[in-house]
Amino acid sequence: MEAKRSSFTGKIGFILAAAGSAVGLGNIWRFPYLAAKYGGGIFLLVYLILAVTFGFALMIAEISIGRKTGVSGIKAFGMLSKNWRFAGIFAAIVPMIILPYYSVIGGWVTKYFVTFVTGGMTNAADDAFFGTFISGVTEPLLWFALFLFLTAVVVFFGVEKGIEKASKVLMPVLVVLSLFIAVYSLFIDGALEGVKYYFVPDFSKFSSGTVLAAMGQLFYSMSLAMGIMITYGSYMPKETSIEKSVRHIEIFDTGIAFIAGLMIIPPIFAVGTPDMLEKAGPGLMFVSLPKLFTHMAGGRIIGAVFFVMVFFAALTSSISLMEAVISAFMDKFGWGRKTTCVVVALGSLVLGAPSSLGFGLWEGVKILGMNFLDFFDFSANSILMPIGAFITCIFVGYVIKPSSIIDEVKEAGNAFKAEKLFSIVIKYIAPVCIVLIFLTGLGIIKL
Ligand code: PHE
Repeated sequence: MEAKRSSFTGKIGFILAAAGSAVGLGNIWRFPYLAAKYGGGIFLLVYLILAVTFGFALMIAEISIGRKTGVSGIKAFGMLSKNWRFAGIFAAIVPMIILPYYSVIGGWVTKYFVTFVTGGMTNAADDAFFGTFISGVTEPLLWFALFLFLTAVVVFFGVEKGIEKASKVLMPVLVVLSLFIAVYSLFIDGALEGVKYYFVPDFSKFSSGTVLAAMGQLFYSMSLAMGIMITYGSYMPKETSIEKSVRHIEIFDTGIAFIAGLMIIPPIFAVGTPDMLEKAGPGLMFVSLPKLFTHMAGGRIIGAVFFVMVFFAALTSSISLMEAVISAFMDKFGWGRKTTCVVVALGSLVLGAPSSLGFGLWEGVKILGMNFLDFFDFSANSILMPIGAFITCIFVGYVIKPSSIIDEVKEAGNAFKAEKLFSIVIKYIAPVCIVLIFLTGLGIIKL
């Protein structure tokens, strides 16, 4: 029945596509800011420990569910247990919410990428540049539409010819570019202070806040709890080792996040304004960094390289979001890929427009005190993702049981070295931690 389902051609294709999903704006913009805010080295340490336990177990679970059932998230849960259909529908809704607003930010990145490549650095470094741009009406909408269009083109060509091909080109380029910038930034005078802050753990800065921030970031960064890894898992060949692939994806994702910190934190220390790091939000990447580039020798080129890289990272992530939405529609309604692609792109355009307009024309419209983009981001990250991850843990730990996932990982004679760790994390540790993040995220408990 699933014979015609498209698939990745092999291990490398799968790993690069999944890593493409994981490595995104979260790694480059959000991770460095969180690392700076939550104590540098200590945050890195906590993040690393969580990634190899918690992130590892959840990603194994999702990819295995996908490969076992051969369908996307929306059908996978119901296929394994009838009463759990709701979990699939839930997982399908999350990427539908994220894709539109993620593409709005993707549009901003595209604008910066084009501005830097065409030599407009000095303009971009102007205080008013970012604010004036995002509060406009037509311009941000057009960049948003362009970014969405580029995403749709790749997804339109399917898993093998579109997603795999694009990831095989974009991901290696991304790694090379980010290493280049990180090494460059280490050589700036005075950068060493920042490197120290970033790498040497200061245990006095450890708090429960560090753990919670690291965990929230981990979900988002690994593209967990929204059916994406289930969908990608459904395209994975049986011979490919799930455990090894997950290790590789993690190395990619965590590696790029760590490198992003190196790109951003030391130069900011060098220029002597660590308080720039404290200014959270889009400010860091879109306002502070362009200024920083104007202070650097060769900043015009470094800036251009930087925004090209961010653009690639954002694009491969939005491709995965769109693929998750499209495969859900295809599996649910039996539509063809091309039609679905057009419908989803147009739908996202409509849904994303308020997020774009919320910075200007519709500035006055607030939901729970937030503009549209922040509201969607908050609903997805602080509410839907923890719930989705919790459901996955309970489903795997107590309904289909860890053994069914373990069997899938061991298909075709593959080993599962961390089998015990997996079972314990998914049954006990993860569900408890997720409830904690959820309640603190909502401000219901304070740790
Ligand atoms: N993981 C991506 C990042 O770090 C974001 C993302 C979230 C992508 C959810 C797809 C799905 O930016």
